Amino acid sequence: MKIGIIGAGNVGTGLTKLLLPRGHGLMLSFHKDAEKLKSAAAAFGAHAGTVAEAVQFRDVVVLATPWVATAEALGQVGQVPKQKILWDCTNTLKPDMSGLSIGTTTSGGEEVAKLAPWARVVKAIPPFAKVMHSASMLIDGQRPVVFVCSDDAQARAVVGKLVDEIGGEPFEAGPLGLARYTEPAAMLLVQLAYAQGLGARIGLSFIREKTRSAA
Ligand SMILES: NC(=O)c1ccc[n+]([C@@H]2O[C@H](COP(=O)([O-])OP(=O)(O)OC[C@H]3O[C@@H](n4cnc5c(N)ncnc54)[C@H](OP(=O)(O)O)[C@@H]3O)[C@@H](O)[C@H]2O)c1
Repeated sequence: MKIGIIGAGNVGTGLTKLLLPRGHGLMLSFHKDAEKLKSAAAAFGAHAGTVAEAVQFRDVVVLATPWVATAEALGQVGQVPKQKILWDCTNTLKPDMSGLSIGTTTSGGEEVAKLAPWARVVKAIPPFAKVMHSASMLIDGQRPVVFVCSDDAQARAVVGKLVDEIGGEPFEAGPLGLARYTEPAAMLLVQLAYAQGLGARIGLSFIREKTRSAA
């Protein structure tokens, strides 16, 4: 699969490192310093390009930008001839990480969908980049769960498969609107990791009794 990544930082390169060995073609884009982008891409064996190139020639686009730079990044996409799947990894973090800048009456995923009418948006916040850049994605022997939300079932399945390929445990939660609740769960992890001192080798797991019907 051809995958374009907007944001060549911790998450963008972490996903690149994990997806390249699975046979995908990766292009990284969006950096303040073009040379830094080229060397980041070269270090992980990916291509470097503009945001427009990372979107237009790809099947799936990953959005891995700081929330404050997201509108600027999506503003560089230009004309997109056909609908793309957009895997939104962003947290709507305030720059000082003290909280979320939006939430519960809307979500980052829904706001991204407004900024990217060319996309079938899938919200799926990956595990901490520290985990993705470490030797194993397992945390205490378990795969961290990644909630996958989108209004498009096919796009949800595609991103769910990519989550599985990187070593996460995808859980198809439902429509994009549920990102209103999965995003605060990711913020809880940020608080636990950094404000409460648990460190970034933490994640979520999801348990349910499969034999019982919902009632
Ligand atoms: N880090 C994690 O563990 C983690 C886990 C899950 C989700 N997330 C979310 O994923 C997103 C990315 O996080 P990250 O940790 O990968 O961020 P990051 O390391 O800061 O990387 C952000 C990328 O965007 C680029 N960028 C930022 N502002 C820009 C601008 N104005 N113009 C051009 N390029 C710009 C950065 O380039 P420069 O290096 O030149 O600034 C860098 O390539 C965030 O929304 C975050 O909340 C993070």
